[in-house]
Amino acid sequence: MTAIADPRAPRAAVRRKGPNLEKWGWMYMRASGVLLVVLIFGHLFVNLMVGEGIHGIDFAFVAGKYATPFWQWWDVLMLWLALIHGANGMRTIVNDYVTHNGTRRVLVWALWLAAAFLIVLGTLVVFTFDPCIGFDAETASDVIIGICG
Ligand code: HEM
Repeated sequence: MTAIADPRAPRAAVRRKGPNLEKWGWMYMRASGVLLVVLIFGHLFVNLMVGEGIHGIDFAFVAGKYATPFWQWWDVLMLWLALIHGANGMRTIVNDYVTHNGTRRVLVWALWLAAAFLIVLGTLVVFTFDPCIGFDAETASDVIIGICG
């Protein structure tokens, strides 16, 4: 019969000094989960149900949202929390299922690199978004003229 290790037993007999990152990762999943419920359902409610709802979503709608620091920070917070949450969750799955040490390291590195890349890219998009690039009063809609004209 195979004995399953005590799930609460530390990986090594003597734990390394320093912060217990695995514990902080576990706590981060719970804390970010609570915040993500508020951020994601707030996002869905405002975008899909308020006013014209889903029919009101167009370029001008996005431009209007990103003209306000409140929605910039809302979206950036959602981006950071969800990407770190998703990458850390995938790290847990990779650690659970990938037994080859080298492959596991490569996959976990790839996860963090992908998350970091998307965080940098997404943050830049939100904070540098300029709806008036290439603005042309001849062809622009009334809403865009209202913002850029
Ligand atoms: C409504 C918002 C969310 C809540 C409340 C939530 C909550 C949680 C919690 C508590 C865990 C830990 C489960 C465990 O340790 O057994 C978890 C794991 C995970 N979450 Fe989320 N999460 C949310 C959104 C997301 C999003 C947006 C993503 C993707 C970007 C994501 C991806 C993952 C992954 C990959 C895991 C690991 C699953 C596993 O260990 O089997 N979650 N989530």
